[in-house]
Amino acid sequence: MFGRPLEVAIAICYSDALPTDCSEVGATKKVLVIYHSQEYGNRAACAALVASGVRSAGDIEVELVNTHTVNRVDIERLAACDGLAIGSPDYASYVAGTIKQLFDDMYVAGKRGISLAGKPCVLFMTHGGGGAGIRALKALSGRLNVVADAFVCRGAPEAGCPEAVALGRTLGNVVLG
Ligand SMILES: Cc1cc2nc3c(=O)[nH]c(=O)nc-3n(C[C@H](O)[C@H](O)[C@H](O)COP(=O)(O)O)c2cc1C
Repeated sequence: MFGRPLEVAIAICYSDALPTDCSEVGATKKVLVIYHSQEYGNRAACAALVASGVRSAGDIEVELVNTHTVNRVDIERLAACDGLAIGSPDYASYVAGTIKQLFDDMYVAGKRGISLAGKPCVLFMTHGGGGAGIRALKALSGRLNVVADAFVCRGAPEAGCPEAVALGRTLGNVVLG
């Protein structure tokens, strides 16, 4: 009775397949949009808007990764990309656990010489009415080069939300130089 759920959990946890939303062949620059979305898909909706903004800046390959659905994010892949967008829901006035794990892994990778210091980055957060978690997301991103004010929104973003798209476009423009 208990065997099958355990098998399923192991299969999910050890899958290192990363969902790729978009991959423009021949693009010279690459941006990763990394976010945790679990409850209503609010963060995923924001991530898609930010990604569309990045693409609108020019010839940039954009990959979306929901940390809720992957085991761990490979920090070397982050280090190899040209820009990052990092999004989290506000969980207990902090970031989601998988996003904290991401920053922990970045810190430890830095000890091994894989540094993300100065990497162009934008931040986004959804919340249920509080939103204090943005302070933690900003603090954790201190070594990155955060190039714009964070996008913070209560609940789901409006359709086509211009602020979220503009955030992505700003990152794209920085990445393209
Ligand atoms: C465990 C948990 C803790 C939460 N804590 C807060 C909180 O402290 N402040 C707040 O404003 N919203 C809080 N929320 C609400 C979420 O931040 C909000 O619903 C978010 O938009 C969900 O994003 P998602 O649909 O992409 O998962 C919490 C939700 C969960 C599941």
